[in-house]
Amino acid sequence: MKLLVTGGAGFIGSNFMLYMLQQHPDYQIVNVDSLTYAGNLENLKSIENHPNYTFSKTDITDAKAVDTLFQQGIDVVVNFAAESHVDRSILEPEVFVKTNVLGTQVLLDAAKKYGVTKYVQVSTDEVYGTLGVTGLFTEETPLTPNSPYSASKAGGDLLVRAYHETFGLPVNITRCSNNYGPYQFPEKLIPLIISRALNDQALPIYGDGLNIRDWLYVEDHCSAIDLVIHNGRIGEVYNIGGNNERTNLHIVKTILQELKKPESLITYVQDRPGHDRRYGIDPTKITQELGWKPKHNFETGIKETIQWYLNNKDWWTRIQSGEYQAYYAKQYAERL
Ligand code: NAD
Ligand code: DAU
Repeated sequence: MKLLVTGGAGFIGSNFMLYMLQQHPDYQIVNVDSLTYAGNLENLKSIENHPNYTFSKTDITDAKAVDTLFQQGIDVVVNFAAESHVDRSILEPEVFVKTNVLGTQVLLDAAKKYGVTKYVQVSTDEVYGTLGVTGLFTEETPLTPNSPYSASKAGGDLLVRAYHETFGLPVNITRCSNNYGPYQFPEKLIPLIISRALNDQALPIYGDGLNIRDWLYVEDHCSAIDLVIHNGRIGEVYNIGGNNERTNLHIVKTILQELKKPESLITYVQDRPGHDRRYGIDPTKITQELGWKPKHNFETGIKETIQWYLNNKDWWTRIQSGEYQAYYAKQYAERL
């Protein structure tokens, strides 16, 4: 099987590359990534010479380049490539529409032209908007995205759906909750808090810190996508989540305890505009239909993740220079 995986140098994409080549060493994997600020080939050092792995520095919005890539014969497309950070989408929405909507359409056109056995769109629970204190997102929950990021992801999802309905393209859409684990860019809550706490820096908590996210260890997301590739029913959406709802404050206090750092580092800052209050996934469909089960529980997963960041300080210190500094200064200017 030959897979074209986009965004394979990012957080989930690189974990997926490592996972797939371990599970299916005979599969050929083409990693297509434009290497934005979030793409990092260092994550893939251990497989760069694997005989079944190739990398192409290509922007998914470049239709001509994408067409050329498909000429080698592709069986399955997995689209991870995206602008993924909500706060950045509030500062600069345009690139989100470009990559997450237009980029998806370019991939769909190539998949339709050359024919694939499966196109998997990696989407997010954020397309469903926000929950109140009760209830969970199911695959039937209406799409009501609240940020430019989630609106652009919903736009991509709707195109995927339309290419299935109109052209019969064999698609699946997956919608996963918040991931955590190795190689996550330190702009996202968990690696941001770990790295700043280790440097004894203030820890910015948006609003009252009681917003809830449903956390899943990244490897469990990868195993779910593997199952969807092989057994997902054509045209179906699958929600992915591990029943791990936690408030942001709980996450931050857990990290501080583990690192033996004081809670006085916690600094409440202005809330994120349009901040979704609560996400929670109902994973019944993927569990019952495809037999998916997460392997990691949150208590051990977060400890392993903290340990990874402790062991890989060079990885995140290198990232936190250059562009990251400029972005973070802008974030703070907006919030404090
Ligand atoms: P990330 O920001 O870490 O990585 C995104 C990758 O896409 C980077 O390697 C980047 O270089 C690449 N990319 C961006 N624009 C591109 C373009 N125009 N052409 C080619 N490559 C491009 O993101 P992530 O957190 O790994 O998320 C991956 C996917 O999973 C996204 O589609 C995201 O919406 C979805 N998702 C993420 C989470 C989460 O918690 N992180 C949860 C559910 C779904
Ligand atoms: O739910 C899936 C989504 O999870 C993915 O689609 C996105 O790509 C991914 O970025 C993530 O979005 P969130 O907005 O939930 O993640 P983030 O890590 O940015 O924030 C998690 C929570 O922590 C959220 O309620 C905002 C809060 N937060 C975040 C940051 C960066 C803070 O309180 N302080 C911060 O500095």
